[in-house]
Amino acid sequence: MTLLAIETSCDETSVAVIRDGRVLSSIVSSQIKLHAEYGGVVPELAAREHLRNLMPVARAALEAANVSVNELEAIAATQGPGLPNALLLGLKAAQAMAFALRKPFLGIHHHEAHLYSPWIAGDPPVADFAAFQPNVSLIVSGGHTILVHVTSELEHRVLGSTIDDAAGECFDKAAKLLGLPYPGGPEIDRLAASGNPRAFDFPRPMLRDPGDDFSFSGLKTSVRYFIRDNPQLLEQPATLRDLCASVQAAIVEVLVTKTVRAAQRLGVRCVTASGGVTCNRALRQSLEQACAQKKLALHLANKNLCTDNAAMIGILAERKLLHNVPETSLDAEIQPGWALA
Ligand code: KG4
Ligand code: ZN
Repeated sequence: MTLLAIETSCDETSVAVIRDGRVLSSIVSSQIKLHAEYGGVVPELAAREHLRNLMPVARAALEAANVSVNELEAIAATQGPGLPNALLLGLKAAQAMAFALRKPFLGIHHHEAHLYSPWIAGDPPVADFAAFQPNVSLIVSGGHTILVHVTSELEHRVLGSTIDDAAGECFDKAAKLLGLPYPGGPEIDRLAASGNPRAFDFPRPMLRDPGDDFSFSGLKTSVRYFIRDNPQLLEQPATLRDLCASVQAAIVEVLVTKTVRAAQRLGVRCVTASGGVTCNRALRQSLEQACAQKKLALHLANKNLCTDNAAMIGILAERKLLHNVPETSLDAEIQPGWALA
């Protein structure tokens, strides 16, 4: 099946063309530079940029895939969750396309798509559902931290999520306190690489809590007070790197410990991770070590599929259509607050 997918839930305008589990093309136009000036995503600006970029990105995706509009057999788009006006543009454009082409349309849950992105690998990328096994999946992005039990293909149950800040938000807010530019996650990752993760002891919130929920706002607050009381540490490049490494170590330890613990408790043999924070090198390394130690298979989303992209939307949509999941109405509305069940 040849399918076109659109993702516009936040600050990436992305269009992908998928055929039989293969990602023929996936174009992502990121707005990070635009929003950096404001220190975070500005919803109205995001929507305006999607409007400007969607058609050129769609054209580029079709061209890169060497697929003409008439060859498309289905259309998909992110229906939620996300920024309302951003979602609206992608969803309505996709529905209009499906209407004009008289092809099936599928509205996709953004986080459900993240759940299957770790199964897409290789160059060119292909989804390997034959290798699929039940898993515990960690979704860590700027807005969400969710632990999910994926019981079988297209079946899942949310185990827990953050009760306050997301892990990515904690990276970004801590980075801001450390005087680093937005988005702070990649900056902390870069500086932490040559810092000492044991130099400073930051709290590991809810690490000992037996449940699967997370909390990161207390960690952010402790970074704030620590810097208020020790401002001189920011002036030395070496201590700044140690601070980055220590904050990162606290976030990573909580994420890894709780993910692996849930996998063991549920008796699954596989762990997966996706979302922007999964780009973090310390998180990738620590998950690799912990899973190897517990003899758990690990599938990490490729770095270019960790951040938001239409390839994962298209791969899941194609899979759903093959499993006869009903089409979405062309009148269906966006679901900005759609929670993963
Ligand atoms: O999934 P994503 O692109 O966007 C959504 O929030 O949906 O995730 C962005 C988040 C930001 O908080 C960013 O700082 C974080 O992912 N991030 C990282 C790294 N790369 C991106 N955090 C830590 N280390 C990184 N290398
Ligand atoms: Zn995302």
